Amino acid sequence: MTVGGLAPVLDPTGLEAAFADLWVGVTRAGGAVGFPPDAPEGEIRDLAGATLAEVRAGRLHMLALRDGAALVGTAFLQPGAGPVVAHRATVLRLMIHPDRQRQGLGGRLLAAAVGRARELGFGQLLLSARGGTGLPGFYTGQGWTEVGRFPRALRLGADDVRDEHWFQLEIGPGPRNRRESVGPAR
Ligand SMILES: CC(C)(COP(=O)(O)OP(=O)(O)OC[C@H]1O[C@@H](n2cnc3c(N)ncnc32)[C@H](O)[C@@H]1OP(=O)(O)O)[C@@H](O)C(=O)NCCC(=O)NCCS
Repeated sequence: MTVGGLAPVLDPTGLEAAFADLWVGVTRAGGAVGFPPDAPEGEIRDLAGATLAEVRAGRLHMLALRDGAALVGTAFLQPGAGPVVAHRATVLRLMIHPDRQRQGLGGRLLAAAVGRARELGFGQLLLSARGGTGLPGFYTGQGWTEVGRFPRALRLGADDVRDEHWFQLEIGPGPRNRRESVGPAR
């Protein structure tokens, strides 16, 4: 796959079906991207459409990994909403097509998301990962720091409750961090 296949998507128009197909496929294969594996397909497709609408509205930043015309992976950056969290972003929906996982592509996509976040001026990244999976190990392996976990915070089903692991990555001051010092609160 060429490096040119990994790039920010400023306008996701035309990617709706491919992105929904990717998200459904990743979910069915047991991926931890917001749904249990047996979630109704329509719910996944609806959220895929709403996610791309957020990109179009400028509230989410998207990266896509493509192989020719095929969409192989995605990642999103959600800026902190509000002045005291404007310096940070949350990485969401990092996913690689099930047929292409464990080939180094997820690591490359995550590194590209970090690079994009730096370009956009963020100084800190956050993300959460589903417990009971290899994901915490994946993020630690990518240099992220696990800063805590919410016990039993994710309900995949009546009998399947998981911890949510929170990760953080400092990526430098970034322009959005350069706020004038306001001194101690009075
Ligand atoms: C998580 C995901 C993005 C990782 O991408 P990937 O291309 O499969 O991972 P890579 O090949 O880049 O893996 C890099 C390293 O992490 C390890 N790793 C990746 N996924 C892992 C997992 N689920 N469990 C344990 N280790 C994992 C790999 O073994 C590799 O280590 P190595 O280089 O020492 O062998 C991908 O597996 C995926 O899309 N999963 C489904 C969606 C999902 O759960 N996303 C996470 C949202 S928080």
